[in-house]
Amino acid sequence: MALSDTNQLPPPRHIAIIMDGNGRWAKKRGLPRTAGHAAGAESFRRIANYCRTLGVEYLTVYAFSTENWRRSQEEVAGIMKLLHRYLVEALADMEKNRVRFRFFGDLSRLTPELRRLCLDAERRSEEYDVQVNFCLNYGGRDEIVRAARAFCQEVAEGKRAPEELTEEVFSEYLYSSGVPDPELIIRPSGEKRTSNFLLWQSAYSEYVFMNVLWPDFTPKDLDQAIEEYHRRNRRFGGT
Ligand code: IPE
Ligand code: IPE
Ligand code: MG
Repeated sequence: MALSDTNQLPPPRHIAIIMDGNGRWAKKRGLPRTAGHAAGAESFRRIANYCRTLGVEYLTVYAFSTENWRRSQEEVAGIMKLLHRYLVEALADMEKNRVRFRFFGDLSRLTPELRRLCLDAERRSEEYDVQVNFCLNYGGRDEIVRAARAFCQEVAEGKRAPEELTEEVFSEYLYSSGVPDPELIIRPSGEKRTSNFLLWQSAYSEYVFMNVLWPDFTPKDLDQAIEEYHRRNRRFGGT
């Protein structure tokens, strides 16, 4: 398919991005890693806006994994501070941006203040339609274990029977309940692995790995990833 043809096609309904490469971006400039995360937050704003203009319905971004606590206390604190600032600003601009927020992940490990901002953002944006799913203290395995535990709990309480468990029912117990699976998952930074992102939901997603670092990621890069997605032949196990 020629590029001009793919440009005419509608974008995927749901795009997910592993926002990776902030640290390397900072290192290249002789800056602290936190400066890379600040630049990454700017990149996120730019790309979220662009997704809205394209008509993408869901944007899921990996912001902090269940494994990222392994980093230095200084770096983790820097990331949390940036998140805090971002959420305060997002809450102030809520009516202008009209983005619906959802958080995927275990928020109980965040400070009460940050958790309150997350819940406020979810509650106050419920009516808006472009949805950003922010993965925060998120792990794909953790999500699946939690879902299994929640279902088992209901079985133990007599509310559910084991035979009722199907793929559809199980999906309802995940953080992503009600959200269609992403058609396209983009990982910038040159790494080619999932790092525990959307393990269940990505069963038939198209992956696009790119060499650009996340803070340098532009709308043009997103266009390129979408063009690549349109060139793929999705078979879902058929012929
Ligand atoms: C992604 O960038 C942001 C988080 C994981 C919080 P990194 O900080 O992983 O950047 P690199 O991979 O070290 O360059
Ligand atoms: C994945 O990136 C997590 C986020 C982007 C939030 P990492 O940088 O943590 O992943 P690894 O360590 O390279 O696998
Ligand atoms: Mg990384």
